[in-house]
Amino acid sequence: MSSLATMPSIEAAAGAKPLLSARHLTKVFHTGGQEFRAVDDVSLSVGHGKVLGIVGESGSGKSTVARMVMRLIEPTSGTVMFDGDDLTAKTGEALRRMRRNMQIVFQNPHSALNPRDTIGDAIAEPFLVQTRVRGSELDRKVEELLDIVSLPKTFKYRYPHELSGGQKQRVCIARAVALEPRLLVLDEPTSALDVSVQAQIIMFLQDLRARLNLTYLFISHNLAVVRHLCDDVVVMNKGAVVESGPTEAVFKSPRNAYTRQLIESVPRIPRPAS
Ligand SMILES: Nc1ncnc2c1ncn2[C@@H]1O[C@H](COP(=O)(O)OP(=O)(O)OP(=O)(O)O)[C@@H](O)[C@H]1O
Ligand SMILES: [Mg+2]
Repeated sequence: MSSLATMPSIEAAAGAKPLLSARHLTKVFHTGGQEFRAVDDVSLSVGHGKVLGIVGESGSGKSTVARMVMRLIEPTSGTVMFDGDDLTAKTGEALRRMRRNMQIVFQNPHSALNPRDTIGDAIAEPFLVQTRVRGSELDRKVEELLDIVSLPKTFKYRYPHELSGGQKQRVCIARAVALEPRLLVLDEPTSALDVSVQAQIIMFLQDLRARLNLTYLFISHNLAVVRHLCDDVVVMNKGAVVESGPTEAVFKSPRNAYTRQLIESVPRIPRPAS
């Protein structure tokens, strides 16, 4: 069935005017003479200051939705509204200005950082590209951002290979929040990290959201994390939304067979040996 049947609960939770709202997003890829509908009529919204989770098995279209929301790829059809503005209609300078409001953090922090740049250079880059901030003010910004992501100031002299996975992901997050965006799209931000570090990053993200007044679109395979972090959740299967609503309601009484299967397949987290 169409995703619209399940939309009202998300709308209600998001309030009258969501920060982000995607309507009827569809993406058809053409590969080797074949058409492939990776995303099929997906609608979702995220209220100001809320966290919306997208779950679904590998290949269900989660990242494609995220990339269309960010306009890193063009939707085949559908619209993306950001704070009441039609992002899909913007081009050039207007699009660039709006993009500052939304940033994406990818799964793999190891490939997101240039090995030849220091951490300071990496964090300074958004300012150099998009603002006139330079010199000592830029130094101060870099240090402030390291502080925000709980890394020592001296890390600005380090190179990516001198950092752990979790520390690198913190640097990626520092870069993402550098220009004070309002929305962060987090595409499996912890799945490349050790399990012990995953929990730290999740707690950190939760705290960061409140401190910086951010709104999250949070994509994850990890249903336990989604349940912990997300106000609302959208369940995707084969490019379509099969269920959506407030996270607790969806987890407690999933209405869709696929959602039930997804929830039941979550391995229990073993207790640490004592
Ligand atoms: N550029 C592309 N060209 C052709 N097909 C693509 C392209 N990008 C993605 N796809 C296909 O679209 C489908 C959805 O991919 P997507 O990356 O959105 O899935 P996902 O839900 O993020 O999966 P995962 O959990 O593994 O990250 C997949 O079948 C994928 O192979
Ligand atoms: Mg993905």
